[in-house]
Amino acid sequence: MSEKRIVVLISGSGSNLQAIIDSIAAGSIAGRIAAVISNRADAYGLTRASNAGIDTQVMDHKQYPDRAAFDNALQETIDGYQPDLVVLAGFMRILTPDFVRHYAGRLFNIHPSLLPLHKGLHTHQRALEAGDPEHGCTVHFVTEELDGGPLVVQAPIPVLPGDDAESLQQRVHILEHKIYPLAVAWFCAGRLELTATGVLFDGTPLPANGFRYTDE
Ligand code: GAR
Repeated sequence: MSEKRIVVLISGSGSNLQAIIDSIAAGSIAGRIAAVISNRADAYGLTRASNAGIDTQVMDHKQYPDRAAFDNALQETIDGYQPDLVVLAGFMRILTPDFVRHYAGRLFNIHPSLLPLHKGLHTHQRALEAGDPEHGCTVHFVTEELDGGPLVVQAPIPVLPGDDAESLQQRVHILEHKIYPLAVAWFCAGRLELTATGVLFDGTPLPANGFRYTDE
């Protein structure tokens, strides 16, 4: 199977980007990152990309009159790289329905909660306040519903006595770095397909919560 072309969108540290870069370098993903695009010039992920010899672009959303204009320009830039897969890795922008539809079935996001719980921001604090016995992270296909697309894989952690938002964030991050490269590897190997009725893995429907990843 030919190597898939991946474009990664970031806004910040890019530790998930790094996990994918490392996984490609280790030969675990049959793909290569064609470009990393950030909406923030100071995103550390840009340095990570440059260090790995990956093409980078900064597109500052504040330079565009509105969300649609930014998303149109972003789409044009992305499409210049002819990606098979677009990966949102801490890209902190809400995307327009047109943009999302354009990449239907080839747009991934990672979210720091066990979706459908805690869509949006401050997920670790909200998991604590809700008294959730477990928390975690999710990789999902992106659809027009914010943090609402079909789930590919989830990794749970127990919420322990004494946990605060920061300790949860740290433990969730470790698992993000495992499940995101895994999902990208499956996609690049042609094992995942988004259909009208949900996600197929090797042609078989995944449960609504996707795979449940555990370290054991
Ligand atoms: C990650 O925790 C990711 O789950 C989250 O942003 C962080 C980015 O970290 N994404 C969202 O909250 C999207 N709604 P990173 O830049 O170190 O990969």
